[in-house]
Amino acid sequence: MRPETAPTGYSRLQIALHWIVVALIAQQYLFKDAMSAAWDRVTEGLEVGFDPLVLAHVAGGALVLTLAVWRLALRARRGVPPAVESGTGQALLARLTHVGLYALMILMPVSGALAWFGGVEAAAQGHNVMKIVLLALIVLHVVGALYHQFILRDGTLARMRRAQD
Ligand code: HEM
Ligand code: HEM
Repeated sequence: MRPETAPTGYSRLQIALHWIVVALIAQQYLFKDAMSAAWDRVTEGLEVGFDPLVLAHVAGGALVLTLAVWRLALRARRGVPPAVESGTGQALLARLTHVGLYALMILMPVSGALAWFGGVEAAAQGHNVMKIVLLALIVLHVVGALYHQFILRDGTLARMRRAQD
């Protein structure tokens, strides 16, 4: 249930989860080659030996999914501060970006798991397409954050740094 009055800022927990997930997603992209190489071996029917970077990809991705679900639960229970702008095209763009980011924080691990544990080739293809969409949304999100910080100077970035518990 959404609370009657929206909080004035994000909580310490919401902020911590945001930045932990940023670090986890960064490592998914930085160390992706080990996972791609392992997947190539799987599709060629070759043996795949233990690789800590493959384990990190699977575990890191599973953690992203878990933390995204937790964040959505916190949004529903505690709520989030009202949007910085409302009713503008930019507000809609920010909202759609956030929805897309949440959707991909769920769909990336699900498609990855279907490929890795279920051997579903189409899921691997979906994973590969969505990795580009996720990256594009992250770029858009960061450009938006920097635009608020340096052009509008409206303190949006501080909302993800200083907690209002
Ligand atoms: C937020 C979570 C995740 C992100 C951002 C992510 C991102 C990526 C990226 C960037 C690649 C490299 C593709 C390439 O350029 O070759 C990749 C490949 C792969 N990932 Fe993930 N991944 C995530 C979660 C997972 C999970 C949880 C699993 C498995 C349980 C998984 C399984 C795979 C597989 C099998 C590949 C190889 C696919 C291919 O190369 O065609 N991923 N992932
Ligand atoms: C992997 C990269 C990232 C992902 C997946 C991500 C995801 C998200 C999501 C889903 C929200 C909405 C939170 C909610 O209301 O429930 C959010 C908010 C926010 N993010 Fe990120 N983020 C990422 C990187 C960054 C970076 C690098 C910055 C700073 C440069 C940043 C700054 C912010 C700020 C300031 C907000 C609050 C916006 C507001 O109050 O309306 N994010 N992020």
